[in-house]
Amino acid sequence: MTFITFEGIEGSGKTTQIHLLMDWLHQRTDRALLTREPGGTSIGEQVRAILLNPINTEMTPEAEILLFSAARAQIVREVIRPRLADGWIVVCDRFADSTLAYQGYGHGLPLDDLLGITEFATGGLWPDLTVYLDLDVETGLRRKAATPEEWNRMEAKEVAFHKRVRQGYQALAAQNPQRWLVLDATQPVEVIQKQIRERVAAIVGGQ
Ligand code: TYD
Repeated sequence: MTFITFEGIEGSGKTTQIHLLMDWLHQRTDRALLTREPGGTSIGEQVRAILLNPINTEMTPEAEILLFSAARAQIVREVIRPRLADGWIVVCDRFADSTLAYQGYGHGLPLDDLLGITEFATGGLWPDLTVYLDLDVETGLRRKAATPEEWNRMEAKEVAFHKRVRQGYQALAAQNPQRWLVLDATQPVEVIQKQIRERVAAIVGGQ
């Protein structure tokens, strides 16, 4: 059982890298699952729609963290834990570290409170490996602007917010270097993927 998460600011190329990794994993095992946060369950997808709807401008940061955590509590118990218990490799597009980076460092909510809420939501589950695609904010937002249909409520926030999120990710990674694989997201796609596969192979090799 191996739990792998991907983190990064908007435009970091997370989705591309995750799909390349899943192609590779599926060639090696029929027990690899991709899921995403917020979402990944029926309840989670409904919560996601509330969170990302641009109409919800009045949403407070406190309401936001509780909605993210509600979706997380559901996916951990409905999907992630049962699959891990059955020996699957579970890959999640964002997880609890997104809350610490976005709601904590980004919005300035107290990290201790966020950790408490997150531990409650996850039941103490943390990833075995977190792949973090590090990128400067201007490049990330420029990449995203190329696909305006993906623009959503979260991405409309100011550049300064995203800069705090990036600093948050870097701080989290520095605190736990064994769990975090930090990669320069400006490298070519194949170069990044090769580094991810090497690390994942080292973890799941014996599985
Ligand atoms: P999504 O469209 O999935 O963005 P991406 O493709 O960048 O992953 O939207 C998820 C947004 O929600 C993204 O801006 C990050 C944010 N988010 C939080 O603020 N806190 C969280 O706990 C999670 C899981 C996501």
